[in-house]
Amino acid sequence: MEIVNRLARISPSATLAAADKAARMAAQGLDVIDLGQGLPDFPTPPQICDAGITAINEGRTRYTPAAGIPELRDAIAARYRALYGVEYERAETIVTCGGKHALYSAFQALVEDGDEVVIPTPYWVSFPEQVRIAGGRPVFVDAREEDAFVVSAQDIDDACTERTKAIILNTPSNPSGAVIPPSVLADIARIAIDRDLVIVFDETYEQFLYDGAVHGSPLGLGPEAKPVTLSIGSCSKTWAMTGWRIGWAIGPRELVSAMARLQSHLTSNPTSISQWAAVEALTGDQTAVSEMLAAFAERREVVLRQLRSMSGVSCGRPMGAFYAFPSVGGILGDSIATSDDLATHLIDTANVVTVPGTAFGRDGFLRISFAVENDRLGEALDRMANSFAALGT
Ligand SMILES: Cc1ncc(COP(=O)(O)O)c(C=O)c1O
Repeated sequence: MEIVNRLARISPSATLAAADKAARMAAQGLDVIDLGQGLPDFPTPPQICDAGITAINEGRTRYTPAAGIPELRDAIAARYRALYGVEYERAETIVTCGGKHALYSAFQALVEDGDEVVIPTPYWVSFPEQVRIAGGRPVFVDAREEDAFVVSAQDIDDACTERTKAIILNTPSNPSGAVIPPSVLADIARIAIDRDLVIVFDETYEQFLYDGAVHGSPLGLGPEAKPVTLSIGSCSKTWAMTGWRIGWAIGPRELVSAMARLQSHLTSNPTSISQWAAVEALTGDQTAVSEMLAAFAERREVVLRQLRSMSGVSCGRPMGAFYAFPSVGGILGDSIATSDDLATHLIDTANVVTVPGTAFGRDGFLRISFAVENDRLGEALDRMANSFAALGT
């Protein structure tokens, strides 16, 4: 059977592949530790689950408007008004089946065949593939390790051409944990305004910040950034709701409404029950979020200490999200030449799953999730240290 070119070129998600691998190993009875996973190891807070259960019991189990229930869209608009002081109306919001779906629809709405989309590396795995599915061409810009993986506004500007349609920014970053300072976001917003481009601004990890890091937005520039900013958010990480599949986009009305038209033919709407749970997530008690953050902050220290004690490994401090992105260049050599080889070696010799940097457009690094319970995390890092030491580097 011939699969269309558009999809034949797409690689499967490397992070989901790592999760599958870990599950298969566990099913074989192996004592596997999965540091590849991109989700909080906490349960969804009980009051959010209760809101979902109430929605079921009250029969709110039918189709909803394609762009989501008004209560949730209004809660999203209110959140952005409160955070950035920028006025948003319901019509400028859309609820989607996870942030991933919001991003997909955004590129479908923005990108014509051959259009370019600027993407800083290391990038989240799905950004380039979603651009390619839409017929676009990803144009990569290195966020340098020596700059703590914060992309420079000048480098973004230099990468833009007549064909550029959009710039993707993701802060805090998956995989590097980099947090783009508000001043850099404002500079990039000015570039987008001057060049008439859209910033697809992925703030999935906005609540997970360390050492006093501040989460900004292109909207921080002021209302003039509103027409060029499509903000993408998600319930998945902030409220440990990955399986509920609720995300959103908020931005220019014509763009959001095109996304809603597309959604009406794809999924009809995101799950009604999950939408009611999300209303509780956005507007209810936020204690669980601070508790998760405190746990991640502690684990980050464990990871950094242990990684930095390994010979051939160096690691900057991730300022946000829940990933470390150590450089393993000092370990690579003739037999283990790439980070893919090293990740495979870790699975084979230590039963530890990580994601190789190649999945994020940067060989020579591994992504390590610290959304893993303390003892297991410490044990995994001990195993990694032994496995690396056995390589004799
Ligand atoms: C940077 C980034 N954006 C978006 C998503 C999408 O998450 P979801 O579709 O679960 O909302 C993820 C998930 O890993 C992510 O890491």
